[in-house]
Amino acid sequence: MEYRGYDSWGVAFGKDLSLVKKAGRISEAGKVEESPAYAGLGHTRWATHGGVTEANAHPHTDCTGRVVVAHNGIVENWEELKNELEKKGHEFKSETDTEVIAHLVESEMGETGELDELIEVVRRVFNQLKGLNAILVYFPQMRSIVAFRNGSPMVLGVGEEEHFIASDIPAFLPYTNKVVFINDMEGVVLHEGTAKLIDAVNSKQLPLKVQEVEWSAEEAELGEHPHYLIKEIMEQPQVLARLAEYPEKDIKEVAKLIKESFGTYFTACGTAAHSGMAATYMFADLAKRHVNFAVGSEFYFLEDFLTPESLLIAASQSGETMDTLEAVRAAKRHKSKVVALVNAQGSSLTRIADKTLLLNCGPEKAVLATKSYTAKLAVFLLLASQLNGGLKDGRKLVAKAAKGAKELLEGDAVGEIKGLAGNLKGAEHLYVIGRGVNYPTALEAALKIKEVSYIHAEGFAGGELKHGVIALIEEGTPCMVFVANDRTKESVLSNAKEIKSRGGFIIGVSPDINEVFDVWIEVPDVGEASPIVNAIPAQLLAYYLAVERGLDPDKPRNLAKSVTVK
Ligand code: F6R
Repeated sequence: MEYRGYDSWGVAFGKDLSLVKKAGRISEAGKVEESPAYAGLGHTRWATHGGVTEANAHPHTDCTGRVVVAHNGIVENWEELKNELEKKGHEFKSETDTEVIAHLVESEMGETGELDELIEVVRRVFNQLKGLNAILVYFPQMRSIVAFRNGSPMVLGVGEEEHFIASDIPAFLPYTNKVVFINDMEGVVLHEGTAKLIDAVNSKQLPLKVQEVEWSAEEAELGEHPHYLIKEIMEQPQVLARLAEYPEKDIKEVAKLIKESFGTYFTACGTAAHSGMAATYMFADLAKRHVNFAVGSEFYFLEDFLTPESLLIAASQSGETMDTLEAVRAAKRHKSKVVALVNAQGSSLTRIADKTLLLNCGPEKAVLATKSYTAKLAVFLLLASQLNGGLKDGRKLVAKAAKGAKELLEGDAVGEIKGLAGNLKGAEHLYVIGRGVNYPTALEAALKIKEVSYIHAEGFAGGELKHGVIALIEEGTPCMVFVANDRTKESVLSNAKEIKSRGGFIIGVSPDINEVFDVWIEVPDVGEASPIVNAIPAQLLAYYLAVERGLDPDKPRNLAKSVTVK
């Protein structure tokens, strides 16, 4: 689970409670202790409340060590609850909001320690917490775990005489692919080899609906690759080839919703947002249709224009990004329709949406989104083509992109980009330009480079240079330029010349060589699918820059794979 947060970690297990917590990465920990236990709890943290210290790492305990808690989310009323608990004499060992949960359970627990009573206590405590939280409360002496969720993800893995509760499926894929997706305001109780699902509002027992997921443990492993990032970059040709065959029924259904809507809006965050932005160009170009776009974290400030006739298309790899989910909740408040474009089956977004299109990319574990990005672009191409009456053409485009991606990843470009990364590793700034549908490509390329190599990189629309940006160009400043064989070609080349005449070092990404390029990265010409193949050299450059600079490409500082807080 380290990809979801890696500043500190902790494990708790055994009847006599072994509790080990450390700041740093669990992958660097080695074996901590070995002893048989029937139940246990582990956590990797991405700090929200309280610094990155051993004391603040989860799990947290009550005053007695009878209650052990791990938590995902933010307890919004934690200070108020903490004050009351301190007045009652509870002593806190950390600065986290999470520890409040352990002491609250302790303060409500009676003397009997019966399981039914403990379940009720945890349920009551959970209902006192404000915010979007998933909590796991482990009672070591009872060998039981009681968990509840609202807004933060939780899945139950059903193995052979064993159960797993986690925030994401890859946590237990080596043991089982049988999953129960827990809904908001539901809880799970694990005791003596059994799992029970209950309603958080009225304690009623609910049926366990076990589903099998298609992801395999191997897909979630590194295999022959040194890092997940390069593994996932290399998987793109296969993913795209699969998407070229996307079921017609699903594409048609969503295209119909777009056609019938009075206003279609795309929303997403980060890399996923760049795919949504690219969609606005694809829909204009291929479908002659106006669609709107706003990033998830800004969407609520625009929600007032939504109506029951509006359609919101939310794109997310994880399906758990809080800002994207909040945008979707806003749309739901206005009774608008919601379509989700998601990789993680069963994720929160898929459960809120009226219709889901799954990306089927397999697990994406590197913090940087790569294959999920090009997969989203592929699905948007299919949708835009369908709206133009030509799904067949869309399929051809995606198949062409799959072939192009394969050629690119199997050809000389990989070695050349590696060499280029060696030359650029000392750069302080790097600028990227593109126009039209490759303007979002420029933004995405810059994001990939900065988040993993920590080199300052900015993407711009080529035409904007003369409005101020060009002041940044100095002798030798590296600039990546995306030149597709489309109507933007001449204008973006002339922007490249403007940069070059001010001393910029031009890295051209294009099917054709041009005299303005100092370095040419050749990409196959895949027509309107150019943003798909253009993203790949940027991903590779970001990866090799991180490697050259001695950084961990899979776990950039301060980031986590799923951003489940606002
Ligand atoms: C960047 C990256 C992030 C995510 C963003 C949204 O490489 O991975 O910008 O794209 O946090 O995540 P999802 O797609 O899970 O909603």
